[in-house]
Amino acid sequence: MDRGILVTIEGIDGAGKTTQSKAVVRWLKKNGYVAKYTNEPTSFGVGRLLNKLGSTASPALEALLFAADRIEHVRRVIEPGLKKGYVIVSDRYVHSSIAYQGAMLGDVEWVRTINKFVPKPDVAFLLDVEPELALSRIKKPRSRFERLELLKAVRKVYLDMAAAGELMLLDGSKPPSQVTEELLAKLRPFLPDPKGKEP
Ligand code: TYD
Repeated sequence: MDRGILVTIEGIDGAGKTTQSKAVVRWLKKNGYVAKYTNEPTSFGVGRLLNKLGSTASPALEALLFAADRIEHVRRVIEPGLKKGYVIVSDRYVHSSIAYQGAMLGDVEWVRTINKFVPKPDVAFLLDVEPELALSRIKKPRSRFERLELLKAVRKVYLDMAAAGELMLLDGSKPPSQVTEELLAKLRPFLPDPKGKEP
């Protein structure tokens, strides 16, 4: 069986990642693909610990825990799915750590290093929005990372990665259905033949 592909959706809090990731998975399933939505931080042990620590954790500890949670995510969800030929759509992945923990620590290279043993995404998207717009979309803050100054710094790291060709840039301020269409148009060339449509 052909190996699946790993698609990741990135952006600051309030960019619309969850809406878009789920819309993409719905489209894929409707069009004959086996597809799965997944997200980080996970609800496995380390992911739960991350939530429990809240703002008491130091940025370096958080960086290590996000990386550890990701290793668990790969072992339990991503790798088994890829082996079964799934298109795995992950709402946040390595680039979230590079952007958030990289911005907080001022050392993106160290964050890359502690994440070097997980597979690279086949394609990674950046849903870009101005932090002011993103925060206005969040009615009830849920995360300690949802602060204007931090999100500005995080967005800058994301945009640098998009400029370097690591992330595909999408304008997340457009209406959601239009963003989905643009995302799917950019994703299509990466998709294998859909199941059931193969000869
Ligand atoms: P988020 O996607 O908002 O999860 P949920 O919708 O379940 O609340 O992620 C929670 C926060 O974690 C978010 O503010 C970004 C942060 N985060 C990092 O700082 N580094 C990471 O590597 C990941 C995966 C998330």
